[in-house]
Amino acid sequence: MNGSAALVDNANASQSRRVFWDQDVYQLELERIFSRCWLMLGHDSLVPKSGDFITTYMAEDRVILSRQPDGSLKAFINSCTHRGNQVCHADSGSAKAFVCNYHGWVFGQDGALVDVPMEERCYHNDLDKSKLGLTQIRVETYKGFIFGCHDPEAPSLEEYLGDFCWYLDSIWDTPDGGMELLGPPLKSTLACNWKVPTENFVGDGYHVGWTHAAALQMIGGELSGLSGNRADMPFDDLGLQFTVRHGHGFGLIHNAASSIHVKRDGYVKYMDETRGAVREKLGPEREMLYVGHWNTSIFPNCSFLYGTNTFKIWHPRGPHEIEVWTYTMVPKGADAETKRSMQREAIRSFGTAGTLESDDGENMSSATYNNQGVITRRGRMNSSMGLNREGPHPVFPGIVGVSFIGETSYRGFYRFWQEMIDAPDWAAVKAGDADWDKMWTNRNFWPDRLAAQQAEPQD
Ligand code: FES
Ligand SMILES: [Fe+2]
Repeated sequence: MNGSAALVDNANASQSRRVFWDQDVYQLELERIFSRCWLMLGHDSLVPKSGDFITTYMAEDRVILSRQPDGSLKAFINSCTHRGNQVCHADSGSAKAFVCNYHGWVFGQDGALVDVPMEERCYHNDLDKSKLGLTQIRVETYKGFIFGCHDPEAPSLEEYLGDFCWYLDSIWDTPDGGMELLGPPLKSTLACNWKVPTENFVGDGYHVGWTHAAALQMIGGELSGLSGNRADMPFDDLGLQFTVRHGHGFGLIHNAASSIHVKRDGYVKYMDETRGAVREKLGPEREMLYVGHWNTSIFPNCSFLYGTNTFKIWHPRGPHEIEVWTYTMVPKGADAETKRSMQREAIRSFGTAGTLESDDGENMSSATYNNQGVITRRGRMNSSMGLNREGPHPVFPGIVGVSFIGETSYRGFYRFWQEMIDAPDWAAVKAGDADWDKMWTNRNFWPDRLAAQQAEPQD
């Protein structure tokens, strides 16, 4: 399909509305994105011991993730190789075997078929069980976060995260042990295309002051100044925006990590106590990231707010619906009471009844369902904010935009989306590694800007 030029126009930063609506586009996404990319499954903290398992999804496929006796992880498709019944219906647990409740086939904790009822009497020992294990999925972890991938040609997880590791390390590789996930997840369905919340989290600092004006006023504190998008706010000095080769990205608000939390004494104390060690281990730039607030998406469909601590996976259910799973992401090193309080605050703001997240539902579904109209659907969407006020940076990898209110990370997300949709295989994607960022033509934006700032008299 070379029609993708009509779907995403990088030079002019626009996308066809069909990317939120068309079934054939969605089908391509299932095949070329969700069947090929590394998808978030969870974290070590959700399956700490041998036998521990969770059930989850990779797009529309049900999967089981299981901790093995040797400490490694395996994941496999949660569908019986006999007649296709779902093997495990529990959300989580501990099991040495999974028994299909249709005819009783038994799969080991590694997914192998280990037993079938009446194997001798009725199969006459003719069944080759070794070929009937559950379909295996590649599993790799990065700093405790567990991803799965169906494509043997895909790069390693670390290569897939690429430059984004440098950023993630500032929160996932801290001297205190990084972050972990707290479950069980909240789950809800939302009538929207999966990309609407993903793009919102990857790069939408713009909507915060408008959509969430009421909540920000109620919470007060550092971010209340955003409420109403007042013209006197020095947005360029408040943060930055980042995007990298494989579409991951985030927006950063300086010094605002815990700002959405109301009861946050433990969190603030924890940050004060740990930032020095982060600076020592990772340097001042990443200490700056550590104390900032992030709105982040890991391509394709995992998003989180570092600081607010909500952690989301947007599982697609066709082009017009998602099932949202919401965990809490907390620093491993914090004490139990502080973690508990972070979880309460994260859920109060961004859970299913979240004081901020519940503002967004209509934005998500309306941006999707308006395209039911054919005339509407012929139109395009714009993501040009801050175009050209971005480029390669001498310190930060990837492409950096000048403000957290801008659409740099949208552009990076859709650039990679289009690349994946166009590419017949991973080899074709890898062939683009060297000049992936050529669409950002203002190569001297940061060198010039930083030089100009240095030349300014300091007060
Ligand atoms: S479908 Fe699973 S045992 Fe028959
Ligand atoms: Fe929002």
